[in-house]
Amino acid sequence: MATQREKLFGQFFTPEEVAAYLVGWAVRSHSARVLDPSCGDGEFLRQLRGAVGIELCGEHAAHASVSAPDAEVVQADFFEWALRQGPSFDAVVGNPPFIRYQQFNGATRKRALQLSRRIGCQFNGLTSSWAPFIAVSASLVRPGGRMAFVVPAEIGHATYAAPLVEGLCRHFASVAVIAVREKLFPHLSQDAWLLFADGKGGSTDRIGLTALEQFNPEIDPAVPACDISLQSWRAMGGRLRRFLIPRRLHDAYLSSVGGNGVARLQDVADVTIGYVSGDNDFFHFTPNAARLYGIPGDCLRPTIRRGEQLTADFVDDRLIDRWLAANEQICVLDLSTANELPRPVADYLESPRADEARTRYKCRVRDPWYIIPGVEKTPSAFITCMSGRETRLSINRAGAVCTNSVLAVTLRRRIPQTDLLRAWQHPLSRLSQELEGHPLGGGMLKIEPGEARRVHLPLTPFRASKTEEQAITEAIKLMRRWRHYEQEVDST
Ligand SMILES: C[S@@+](CC[C@H](N)C(=O)[O-])C[C@H]1O[C@@H](n2cnc3c(N)ncnc32)[C@H](O)[C@@H]1O
Repeated sequence: MATQREKLFGQFFTPEEVAAYLVGWAVRSHSARVLDPSCGDGEFLRQLRGAVGIELCGEHAAHASVSAPDAEVVQADFFEWALRQGPSFDAVVGNPPFIRYQQFNGATRKRALQLSRRIGCQFNGLTSSWAPFIAVSASLVRPGGRMAFVVPAEIGHATYAAPLVEGLCRHFASVAVIAVREKLFPHLSQDAWLLFADGKGGSTDRIGLTALEQFNPEIDPAVPACDISLQSWRAMGGRLRRFLIPRRLHDAYLSSVGGNGVARLQDVADVTIGYVSGDNDFFHFTPNAARLYGIPGDCLRPTIRRGEQLTADFVDDRLIDRWLAANEQICVLDLSTANELPRPVADYLESPRADEARTRYKCRVRDPWYIIPGVEKTPSAFITCMSGRETRLSINRAGAVCTNSVLAVTLRRRIPQTDLLRAWQHPLSRLSQELEGHPLGGGMLKIEPGEARRVHLPLTPFRASKTEEQAITEAIKLMRRWRHYEQEVDST
């Protein structure tokens, strides 16, 4: 497991053979001027002669100076240092820190986003640090030069990574990615891939992709297994991950979803996250607690608070009764339609526990503080947003509502709910869920509302050819393997 400090500074050091491979590819002459923008304790610098390494952390910078004595190690924030630099490097290599947007903030982030514009990359506020590290590094490469980096596998699906890929294609004659299924950093939940850009000053409208089971130093990124046009990458939502399945499988998928009767979920339904209460313990009751406080039944609604509750195809009265009989905390206070507060409710809202709840951020900023926005909306169905083998869609037959831990689906078109259920469980849709969702680490599939909206659904009875059927099954297995869903690996 990664420590807090490792996470905060993205301090994960590259295995020697991987660093050697990237250096071997990027550095073509002994006299080349080479930069590592985040050199850590100097794994890359050790393999070079007289390279320049930048490192924020004093301790690591000191290590790097000792382990690579002929390197020039500068202890600095890379973006501050880069402000005063021009395109003077023949090659840039490294493993930029992966610091998520929540921690990648303040002056560093402001400078990083500003400098990224040097190569025309406009990152939004959700970008992790590694993408601007690479964009700014690109601005420091001489004409004809190249770069090779370890990158998080998020390059294959994160929306914020798309401006980087576009920027590199505008400024380099070739851009290639090697996706590696087996972990380069076994102790991290994050997968890492490799990124290459060659021929600064050129441009390309193609991305090379090679998908490998494990790291293989014999592979030449310049001869990719799959050559993807930027146009088709854009059409696939800027997601390289979709091309991990071989072309014949992808083509079978595209031809199946192009058939009659296949729609996207967004064509028939709205998908959102459920309500945010602001204080879950205060607003959710067990039946015993509701009785104790005398909260009337018409002020309470059954609710789905966690994906784990969605174990069946239907959330119906029988299921709710079972939860109530087990005294589960599944009743949410819904005062959205109450004209007058019943006395016991008014008392509860004046209790010492309420004094605490009303000061919580989400409660403080709404008026009145005790009405949960969106709690009155009854979805047609719920979808798990973090799933193991596969997602679960459960039809809502109990008038239940849900928190933001699951997705709320509200049908817009009059289609039978059971058709929605059947379509969601169809292998074609299962594959679509794998392709539109993304891995979360630990084998989990994460599906955000925007991703769920894009999922394909065969809404009318759908007949695929035998070959298409086999291709879809094979592709589902492959995508599960790429997200390390181990049970699936065992069963293959
Ligand atoms: C993923 S590690 C890679 C280290 C080394 N290149 C390697 O691969 O072994 C990233 C390094 O970036 C450093 N770092 C984080 N933010 C930085 C910044 N703004 N400027 C320079 N270095 C930074 C971290 O301290 C960490 O040592």
